[in-house]
Amino acid sequence: MGANVSREAEERPLLIETRERLLEELTRSSAGGQTLALVPTMGALHEGHLTLVREAAARADRVAVTIFVNPTQFGANEDLDTYPRDLAGDLEKCAEAGAWLVYAPRGPEEVYPEGFQTWVDVGELSLGLCGGKRPGHFRGVATVVCKLLSLFRPQVALFGEKDYQQLAVIRRMVRDLDLGAWTEIVGVPIVREADGLAMSSRNAYLSAEERRRALSLKRGLDQARALFEGGESSASVLIDAARSEIEGSAKIDYVELVDADTLQPLVVVDRRACLLVAAYVGKTRLIDNQVLHVQG
Ligand code: PAJ
Repeated sequence: MGANVSREAEERPLLIETRERLLEELTRSSAGGQTLALVPTMGALHEGHLTLVREAAARADRVAVTIFVNPTQFGANEDLDTYPRDLAGDLEKCAEAGAWLVYAPRGPEEVYPEGFQTWVDVGELSLGLCGGKRPGHFRGVATVVCKLLSLFRPQVALFGEKDYQQLAVIRRMVRDLDLGAWTEIVGVPIVREADGLAMSSRNAYLSAEERRRALSLKRGLDQARALFEGGESSASVLIDAARSEIEGSAKIDYVELVDADTLQPLVVVDRRACLLVAAYVGKTRLIDNQVLHVQG
C-alpha cells in the first residue's frame, strides 16, 4: 500500500503555474537530453485531448501539457467567462495519460504581461471559415501557440484535426517563422463519441435534447461523404446534402468545401478536399469536418 501511494505520487505530473518556474524547470531538465512533446490545450480535458497526450508519449521521452483558456482567441460576445474549467480533474487525467509536466498559467498576465504588444497574424489561411466568423480568433491562437513553442522548444507538438483550420494556420506559422527548426507539428485524427459526435470541451454545455441535435453535424458530413464516394464531385451538391441534414437540428454558421491545404473554396472536388461545418445547437457553437480523398 505504502509503495503504491508513493508510486502514484511520483507519476503525478509536475504542476507549474508561472512562467518563471517553467523556465527554471525546463533549464534543469534540458541537461538530461530527453526529447519533449508538447500538447497545448484549454483544459476541461476529454478523450480527444488525452489521445493527443498518449500519442505524444509514444513520440517523445517526456510530455508537457499546457492548460490555458487563452483570452485573446475569444471574441467579445463569446464564452470566455463560462468556458469549462477543471484543473484538479485535468491533472488526474494527465497523470493517467502519461504527462510529465502540466503548465497551467495562474492568470493571463503570465502569458500577456503588461506592455505586451506583439501578435502573430497568419494571412490568408485565417480569413475564411472560422476566421471569417470569429475575427481575431486565429491571431490569438497563433500568438499563444507561437509563445508556447518558443518557451518549450519541443521536438514535437501535437494538434487535433478536429480544429482543421487551426492546424493549417499553425503549420503555416511554423513554416513561415522557421519554428520547424526545433519542432515537428503532428496532426491527430478526430476522436469521436461512440455515436459519432466529435469530442469537444463545449459538449459539456449541451442539454440531453441538444446533444441529440448535435449529431446532425456528423450525419450531414456522412451524407456528403457517401454521395462523394458514390461519384458526386460538385461542391454545391455535396454542401447542400450536408446542409439539408443539419438544417432542422442546428443553426448553420457555415458549411464549406475547400482545398485541404490552401482552404480555398472548391467548385469541383478534383483534389484532396475538406468539408467543414460550424453550427449552433442552442447557444453552443460546434465544429466538425470530413476530409475527402480523391483516388489516384
Ligand atoms: P482545445 O480546444 O482545448 O484543444 C486542444 C487540442 O485538442 C487541439 O489541438 C484540438 O484540436 C485537440 N482536440 C480537441 N478535441 C479533439 C477531438 N475530438 N479529437 C482530436 N483532437 C481534439 O484548440 C485549442 O484548445 C486552443 O485553440 C489552443 C491550440 C490550445 C490554443 O489556445
